[in-house]
This record gives sequence, C-alpha cells and structure tokens, in this order.
Amino acid sequence: MADVAVQSDGRSGGIVIKDDWPGYSLDLFSYPAHYSGDIDCVIIPHGVIMDRTERLARNIMDDLGDHDIVVLCVLKGGYQFCADLVERIKALSRNSNRTIPMRVHFIRLKSYLNDQSTEDLHILGAEDLSFLAGKNVLIVEAIVGTGKTMKALLNYVEAFRPKMIKVAGLLVKRVPHNSACLPDYVGFEIPDRFVVGYALDYNEYFRDLNHICVISESGKMKYKI
Ligand code: HPA
Ligand code: MG
Repeated sequence: MADVAVQSDGRSGGIVIKDDWPGYSLDLFSYPAHYSGDIDCVIIPHGVIMDRTERLARNIMDDLGDHDIVVLCVLKGGYQFCADLVERIKALSRNSNRTIPMRVHFIRLKSYLNDQSTEDLHILGAEDLSFLAGKNVLIVEAIVGTGKTMKALLNYVEAFRPKMIKVAGLLVKRVPHNSACLPDYVGFEIPDRFVVGYALDYNEYFRDLNHICVISESGKMKYKI
C-alpha cells in the first residue's frame, strides 16, 4: 500500500497511498449500516490513522517540545485529528517529564459545496487572534488539496505576529495544481479522490464514520444539495 516519501530535510512527507491502491473491501471492517452503498472502500483504516498520529505527535514534540504551544484546530473536519493528536502529545509529554503548556483554539473554515471547492474561503470564529503574538502556533488541518486554503490561513495567522507557525495535515491530496504550500507534518499523501470519515464530510454527512473511505457515486447522489 505504501511508500514513504522523503523530503529534503530527511523528514517523511507522509505515507504515500498510490493512485492504483484499490483500498480495503468494506467487508473486512465494520462501519455504520446507514452508510452501506454510500462508500466504495476503506482507504485508511482507523487504527492506521491512530498509529500514524502517534508518530506525528513525536515529531512535533521533538521540534516544539521546549516551548508553549497554541494549537489552532481547523474546524469542522480537523476536530477528530486534532483531538487525537493533542491526546498523543499530552501522553508523550507526561511520559517524558517534559510537560508543555498547550492551549487549544478553534477556527472554522468553509469552502466546499458537494465535492467541489468554492472560490470563496470563509474564516469564521476567528475574531481576534491577537493572543497568538509571540507564541508557537501549531495549525491542525484534516486535509490539504491545492494548498490555497492553507496559504490563505497562514497569511491570516501571520498577521498576528506569532513566533513560529507549523502546520500538521493528516492528509495531503495529490491534485493537479498542488501549490508549494505543504504542511510541516503530513500523515498520508492520497490520490485525488473525494474521501470521507474521521470527521471529513460530504455536505455534513459521514463525520460519524471512523475509517477514511472513498465515497461512492450513489453516496454523492444521495447526499447532494
Ligand atoms: N473530503 C472531504 N473534505 C474535503 C476533501 C475530501 O476529499 N477535500 C477537501 N475537503
Ligand atoms: Mg467539508
């Protein structure tokens, strides 16, 4: 299933899931019965997400573990990844006697309708981020596609003059116009297909699915607005 891409700094660019990876048959896992017929396959099982998240937490601790961290969770899709990542960072920090003060804040972005990115990015719930001044900020995103959203968000956050900004992205999608803007910590690099589950939605559905799955054509039709 996987190759590991290595960036020039020697750090992993994420587990690479190739375009020809068919995914796991749904029969091999359990998932909510109300989604039968709505998904094609399991592309990343929940347990693998958790194991990869544990390693990302270690990389983050190695880089940022000597400083206070302000975690900026990008809602809604990022809530599950952020919660699990923060838990892992806390566990590592407990076990290493290097407890790091961590604050968690939430920012809400919306740019998708059905499975299409809309031109306008809405940043909600981020009235005043002036408390970020001089802090180390970890932005936590579920998925990065073209990188346009991430770039806009980075510009927005930079204006509040934090000391450092790092980005953790669970998924990076190989889309035709990937910008140079990639997260510092990447869980998985995935094919250009619409995925759902683990808090990623299609018109607000599928957040209650644990695995990351590929939505089926009939699933898209059923929940289209
Ligand atoms: N799934 C859910 N949300 C998304 C995706 C996706 O594949 N790409 C961008 N936002
Ligand atoms: Mg969404």
